[in-house]
Amino acid sequence: MFITFEGIEGTGKTTQIKLLKDWLEESGRDVIITLEPGGSRIGKELRKILLNMDSTDITGECELFLYLADRAQHVSQVVRPALEAGKVVISDRFADSTIVYQGYGRGLDPKLLRELNDVAVCGHWPDLTILLDIEPEMGLKRAMTRNLHENKMQEEGRFEAESLDFHGRVREGYLTWAALNNERIVVVDATKTPDAIFVEIKAKIEEFMLDRG
Ligand code: TYD
Repeated sequence: MFITFEGIEGTGKTTQIKLLKDWLEESGRDVIITLEPGGSRIGKELRKILLNMDSTDITGECELFLYLADRAQHVSQVVRPALEAGKVVISDRFADSTIVYQGYGRGLDPKLLRELNDVAVCGHWPDLTILLDIEPEMGLKRAMTRNLHENKMQEEGRFEAESLDFHGRVREGYLTWAALNNERIVVVDATKTPDAIFVEIKAKIEEFMLDRG
């Protein structure tokens, strides 16, 4: 089973992913957590370029292809082998991030991005995607506090430094994309407490597993 988490910055994805891993492991499943960008060795190098504040001269197309390159490597070296070994794979961001950030956020065509993603994911679209939804003002405030606290603004802050307008488009893009793909993407209100959010996520996953038999 392949589960991905999506959302703008500061939605609390990391906390929910850890809770989910523990819960699935308690029921006897073998689980790996991975992420994009940076889920593979080569991906870690790409992540440095993609998120560093100094990458101001990167073009939209270059950014797009680096995310897709990161994904192709990640799928073939991490995601696919783990799925083939019968593990549950949980990825912090995946293909929907490209459609939403580079598409709805930067203005590239989401349909074209869906097709380019088909090349990168090699048949491995997620079974289930949890979209944590929050207003950009609130999310950005949380993400900025975390980056400052962990001293990561220079190395990882390029997207947090984007305008509120950009993050607004990304948030709306996620909701539009989720509505178009509601058989796979479920939207969860991320303004609730972490415990309340997790109760909702568990319910969605149980429902999904039941449907699947
Ligand atoms: P990260 O620090 O992992 O952000 P977060 O903690 O919010 O998940 O940074 C990843 C950034 O890269 C994030 O701002 C979204 C962006 N991104 C894209 O623009 N396109 C993509 O395809 C992916 C995977 C991420």
